[in-house]
Amino acid sequence: MNNNWWKNAVIYQIYPRSFKDSNNDGIGDLKGIALKLDYIKGLGVDAIWLSPIYKSPMKDFGYDVSDYCDIDPIFGSIDDFDKLLEQAHKKGLRVILDMVINHTSDQHPWFKESRSSRTNPKADWYIWVDGEKGIPPNNWLSYFGGSAWEWDENRKQYYLHLFAKEQPDLNWRNPEVKRELFNIVKFWLDKGVDGFRFDVVNLFYKDAKLRNNPPKKKKTEIDFENYYNVFTRDRPETLLVIEELQELIESYRDRVTIGEVATDLGVIQYFEYTKPGRLNLAFNFEFKDVEKFSAKSFKEVVEFTEKVFEDAAWPSYVLGNHDSARFISKFSDGKLEEERARLLAAMLLTLRGTPFIYMGEEIGMREGEIPFEKLQDPLGLNLWPKHKGRDGCRTPMQWDEGDYAGFSTVEPWLPVNSDKNHVNVKRQEKDPDSMLNYYKKLLSLRRKYNALKLGDYISIETDNPEVYAYLRVFEDERKLVILNFNAESVKVKLNLPKEEKHNIVFGTHRTKGVINNLVELDPFEVLISE
Ligand code: NOJ
Ligand code: CA
Repeated sequence: MNNNWWKNAVIYQIYPRSFKDSNNDGIGDLKGIALKLDYIKGLGVDAIWLSPIYKSPMKDFGYDVSDYCDIDPIFGSIDDFDKLLEQAHKKGLRVILDMVINHTSDQHPWFKESRSSRTNPKADWYIWVDGEKGIPPNNWLSYFGGSAWEWDENRKQYYLHLFAKEQPDLNWRNPEVKRELFNIVKFWLDKGVDGFRFDVVNLFYKDAKLRNNPPKKKKTEIDFENYYNVFTRDRPETLLVIEELQELIESYRDRVTIGEVATDLGVIQYFEYTKPGRLNLAFNFEFKDVEKFSAKSFKEVVEFTEKVFEDAAWPSYVLGNHDSARFISKFSDGKLEEERARLLAAMLLTLRGTPFIYMGEEIGMREGEIPFEKLQDPLGLNLWPKHKGRDGCRTPMQWDEGDYAGFSTVEPWLPVNSDKNHVNVKRQEKDPDSMLNYYKKLLSLRRKYNALKLGDYISIETDNPEVYAYLRVFEDERKLVILNFNAESVKVKLNLPKEEKHNIVFGTHRTKGVINNLVELDPFEVLISE
């Protein structure tokens, strides 16, 4: 089982719109990604996951698909994709696609047909319900705000959309729909893609009886977060269809499946979706939900994950993605923000579980400040100012000091961050102490040592609650990771099994290392020894 490539891998997420614009229309594209394959390979990651590149009206920037078997012209052509896949494979990089099959775009031919009458052959391909205009069938809410039901004048019925109204939910209970969706998965497997990230995979089935979601408190503001959304997610039928999907995908060799499980139930639910026969991985989003920068919070997540997963499933960790504020900014208190980010990167890349890096994290890209007039994200546009949307983490990748950071020669679809002159790839490549080179060193360390990839995780107690330490052990290889979450220098005692000397293999500061189980650490110091 340890031979599964995805257990040994680090996966790099690309948001194609914002990675590299090859034809200077202000939007990133597939040829742009192809131009940067050497950069990606040079980082030392094993695979790329591309956020959606299919044909789309872009109401949710590709998460609203109107043709699953074609590439949106803004990103290129199917020919460009084939070339990209071939080039990536030549370089030893795997390619994972985003499979968005909970919903389609309202411009998908299926939906156009479905909405055309109550009796057409695809009438039942989406979730249509009778009702009275102005009185939605139940209290289900959209993740993007407001009711999840939209009245259709033509059919004089409601349809369900758990996201934007331009993203109608498919009816997985219809066997033809299911067959078509499986065929789409096969289409890409036959092309040779290395796996899929399944968008909101736990939402595929909704309660057949359309029961109301119970509110968390008796009287409460109508807001998605205030409900137990139990009838719109994690239905038992979903796990069954996932098992079927997995069987199909496993009939091809060496592919990976990753689930985006949108849940309040955290680790327990990630485990549920990755039990044997189900998905290979489910993002563990718990780090993203950590509010306070403290060893205690992060350690709690890891130790709970370890307890729940044990050997029964393989964990995975992320610090950020295209839906969440850049973690470097989130944890910044204005001072030593890079140091904090470096500490978290070291943690991410030394834990037991497949890590995901979101593009730009490796150069310390910060959350963009997007004024309302420049807002693009439907979530932000719907919920402003309560929610500022997700544009801040989707700003163009910063390649150099050029006007548009080397992303494009024209004004990009989202503004470039103002720190581009020092936060950019070109500059950081030249600086041995840059964030970029720091990531590269950590990645090469992880590649080199099985202990860091596959080793057991053993927690090491210390006499300072803000110093987080653990061992990773694989056969006779052993690595000790020490992370100082204190903003001060500290001297700590580690509760190690034996008193012995530890050779330093990696560190952020000059240090004597661990001597007699004692170690002196600078603020936010990272120390890895063997
Ligand atoms: C989750 C994706 O990550 C997000 O960007 C998207 O808006 C929703 N799913 C809907 O597809
Ligand atoms: Ca372009």
